[in-house]
Amino acid sequence: MSTADLKHTQTLAALGVSSAEKVQSLFVELRARFDAESGRVTDENSWKALRDAWLGRKSGVLTLVTDNWLKPATPELKRAVGASLNELRAHVDIQVEARHTAIEAGSEATASAKDRVDLSLPGVIRPIGTHHLIRQVFQEIEDIFFSIGFSVVEGPEIETPYYNFEALNIPEFHPVRDDMDTFYVDLAKGAAQPLLLRTHTSPMQIRTMEKRQPPVRVIVPGKVYRRDNPDATHSFIFHQVEGLAVDNDITFCDFTGTIEYFVKQFFGPGVKTRFRPSYFPFTEPSVEFDVSCIFCGGSGTAAGGGTCSKCKGSGWIELFGAGMVDPAVYGFVKYDPKKVSGFAFGMGIDRLAMLKYGIDDIQVFFQNDVRFLRQFP
Ligand code: FA5
Repeated sequence: MSTADLKHTQTLAALGVSSAEKVQSLFVELRARFDAESGRVTDENSWKALRDAWLGRKSGVLTLVTDNWLKPATPELKRAVGASLNELRAHVDIQVEARHTAIEAGSEATASAKDRVDLSLPGVIRPIGTHHLIRQVFQEIEDIFFSIGFSVVEGPEIETPYYNFEALNIPEFHPVRDDMDTFYVDLAKGAAQPLLLRTHTSPMQIRTMEKRQPPVRVIVPGKVYRRDNPDATHSFIFHQVEGLAVDNDITFCDFTGTIEYFVKQFFGPGVKTRFRPSYFPFTEPSVEFDVSCIFCGGSGTAAGGGTCSKCKGSGWIELFGAGMVDPAVYGFVKYDPKKVSGFAFGMGIDRLAMLKYGIDDIQVFFQNDVRFLRQFP
């Protein structure tokens, strides 16, 4: 700040001002200074600095002019100082306000220019995705089971051998484990227990019964893993839906009725179904459930003559394993096997989808070729 700029910090006597004319020229000089500073205001911050510098109550220019020029002025000069000060104050008030209004209007204009949408620009085309066919089939299955009182639960894909095998009545060295060889997680030495990628959704039978008391009616959709070599009907990662119903009066008839209801809803009323005896350590009795081949209509003969390659001429296609829950399993979840009974099933969803949609290679589900996916919008 120059000495001229500091005149308002000194009294008139110190400045050697002793006439009304000199007072007036002092105010003219001060006003010119204000106008110059006010002209440099461009934004909210510089406007605030101007306002505080001139109108600040403690050390603003106008306060100091009042303290240094007006108050100690001689009676002869007081009137001239008072009149010029009032004039300057009015000018400063009006200008400060006007600058603020101008700045606000300017920033609004800039903001609205930024936000303005140019309707003449070409639009952005965002392709809309769809659910993968497996996800769609999960949804179809869930809807069918919702309609008969089941709810959905989900569980971990990384499991302990206890839930994947032991609690399902499959002790170590049981031959069934050979069919369910899987991937083990590489753990640090000394880990409490091994961890594996679940080979089926059946561990969720145990986890659900541990948490809930009967009646239980759940389905469990999810991914499972096995060390199977890939071919047209096998993949090392695939999808299952587990089903479990336990109550104090569930019979084999409830079981067959539920399964047949599901199959007719899913494939349509035309399909025929059959149960074959089978074996799973966690169900007793156990069954495999077959549907009549949808490719050859159950005849076993392909449309162009010869044996149907899908059902290998048998007219039936295996859909899933199931059975009445083995009482030994209830022991692992502290249910009383004398009081409760129930059934469970585990369907391979990829094979179900292949059957329903006439797909002859399971691998297409994992290759994610859009030419395949687009056929199932
Ligand atoms: C089981 O996984 C039993 N947990 C099913 C079960 C549940 C039985 C509850 C009783 C009570 P399984 O190993 O058969 O069973 O497999 C079930 C279905 O998974 C098969 O019918 C088949 O559709 C499908 N599946 C099995 N292995 C593969 C694979 N590598 N790739 C694709 N699908 C497969």
